[in-house]
Amino acid sequence: MLTVVIGWFCGMPLFAQEVLPPAMKAQRVDYCIHCHKTLSGQMGVAVGEWEKSVHAKRDDNCNICHGGNPDLNDKKAAKDIKFGFAAKRNNYNSVQLCGRGGCHASTIGLFKMGPHYVALGKKGKPECVDCHGAHEILPPKVKFIKTGVCVQCHTAGVVEKTIASLEKLEQNIADLEKNIDYLISKNAEARDILAKLIDVRNLYRQLVHVMSTREFQHTKREIELQLNDLLEKSQSRLLVVRRLDINYVVTMLLGFLVVIVFMIFTIRTFARRSD
Ligand code: HEC
Ligand code: HEC
Ligand code: HEC
Ligand code: HEC
Repeated sequence: MLTVVIGWFCGMPLFAQEVLPPAMKAQRVDYCIHCHKTLSGQMGVAVGEWEKSVHAKRDDNCNICHGGNPDLNDKKAAKDIKFGFAAKRNNYNSVQLCGRGGCHASTIGLFKMGPHYVALGKKGKPECVDCHGAHEILPPKVKFIKTGVCVQCHTAGVVEKTIASLEKLEQNIADLEKNIDYLISKNAEARDILAKLIDVRNLYRQLVHVMSTREFQHTKREIELQLNDLLEKSQSRLLVVRRLDINYVVTMLLGFLVVIVFMIFTIRTFARRSD
């Protein structure tokens, strides 16, 4: 109670909560969007960026992260502290915003295990938005990582090497997924590889979010070994499927040829008879 009163009095929460309360659902009109759409600068830009995001597709609106009451068409009342409003301006970082109501708990758990969470407490960097953005959040890619933030603490060489090795893993995972899709489309056995890919993806997710020296020594190696093994396995099955494909095409062509020869033969026979 005292926390709320002091927080309300100062216009900012003094004792940041570990997990912010879940977002409210707008009853009819979502006034956060309705009002911010009309604003200029960053206040309005956020709407256009959010509209392209994975969150907008799920109807996860502004308040899913920022909190506040979307039923009130008043900039102050909507952001009253009693509705759990949180923004960068009142000292909330993106780890807190992304974790509102228990969202992304497992990813946040991983991030908190690593050295970057400690760095965030001391220097305010790096955080979720430095790799995912704040509003235009799309299916994640290594190339979205804002390396300008990383070089504040690491040498350009270390950052380049890190990005290159993550991109290689990302590419190998994409290749493996393509192979699996092809095998499945041909009704070939791929469930065992798919199950292992899920494990590898989890290790990769762990690597990028914990980001410790240990992870880069052990987990990265483990991912590489497993990926190589799975890629080889899928490749050899692809060869079998493709060989079957070729057999199929050759058989079809031969069949076609036989029919044509037969037709020519018949036509010539008839032609001779009618002469
Ligand atoms: C009636 C208009 C209006 C409504 C409704 C509104 N806002 Fe705002 N909002 C503003 C304006 C104007 C600002 C610029 C700062 C200021 O003038 O207070 C702002 C600022 C912000 C900021 C920047 C951080 C800050 O504290 O200033 C965030 C984040 C934000 N709004 C989110 C929301 C969310 C989430 C909702 C719905 C729960 C919402 N807004 C509802 C007008 C509105
Ligand atoms: C997925 C979570 C998420 C959603 C959804 C979201 N925001 Fe944000 N927003 C953030 C984060 C995190 C920041 C801090 C940005 C940074 O550090 O660069 C932020 C920053 C802002 C800012 C800049 C002021 C500040 O506090 O730094 C405004 C204005 C804002 N958001 C408005 C909105 C509006 C309007 C919507 C809905 C259209 C919205 N946001 C939806 C997470 C979100
Ligand atoms: C150093 C960059 C980096 C940081 C910091 C980071 N992420 Fe990620 N995140 C990634 C990458 C790269 C992926 C893609 C991993 C994959 O494909 O599985 C990812 C994947 C994810 C996913 C999975 C998306 C899906 O496909 O289901 C979620 C959720 C996520 N991150 C949330 C967060 C949150 C929350 C934070 C802050 C605590 C955070 N990330 C911090 C780089 C980062
Ligand atoms: C505020 C400082 C800070 C920022 C910004 C930062 N890091 Fe770090 N990072 C650290 C610290 C501290 C460690 C712990 C290991 C150490 O002492 O080198 C670390 C560890 C790492 C490691 C594992 C250790 C290694 O060198 O093998 C990688 C990889 C890494 N960071 C990449 C990144 C990337 C990519 C970014 C940009 C998204 C980034 N860091 C941004 C401070 C930072």
